[in-house]
Amino acid sequence: MALIHLIYVSTAREEFDTPELDRILDTAVRRNGQRRVTGMLLYAGGTFMQVLEGEAADVDETYARICQDHRHTGIILIEREPIAARSFETWSMGFRRLGAAEAGASPGYAPFFAHGFDAAAIGAKPGLALELLMGFRCGR
Ligand SMILES: Cc1cc2nc3c(=O)[nH]c(=O)nc-3n(C[C@H](O)[C@H](O)[C@H](O)COP(=O)(O)O)c2cc1C
Repeated sequence: MALIHLIYVSTAREEFDTPELDRILDTAVRRNGQRRVTGMLLYAGGTFMQVLEGEAADVDETYARICQDHRHTGIILIEREPIAARSFETWSMGFRRLGAAEAGASPGYAPFFAHGFDAAAIGAKPGLALELLMGFRCGR
């Protein structure tokens, strides 16, 4: 049994409203619950950053399904690595929508998501993606 986590960044096809985000989240919670996949989804400025954690086969299958989803595009894999333990143990999928207020409240992080997640900048700093996801984690 090999636990991994996988983190990606993507761009929404259109600016998502709350009901649309709720629909994604409802599906994520339901499907991830069936597979013991846990994690956290952040939405900022029309972009997503998500971490999926669980058994490698479950995470890879879920990610493959997410990659086929036409509601987002430009999916960039930031990392896929073995982990010793889950960071989002109790959440089938946490969610947080970040706006200018959150970016301004954490100046150290602002360059990485003030105008949507900057995959190149985040990817260039090992560990930053998970740090951001954990810093804004919020259960559901
Ligand atoms: C940004 C984003 C995040 C998503 N996260 C998940 C997720 O964590 N788990 C999941 O099963 N589906 C997730 N989905 C939905 C999948 O892309 C797909 O629509 C869903 O798994 C339904 O598959 P089904 O129609 O085969 O049941 C996400 C979609 C988007 C756009």
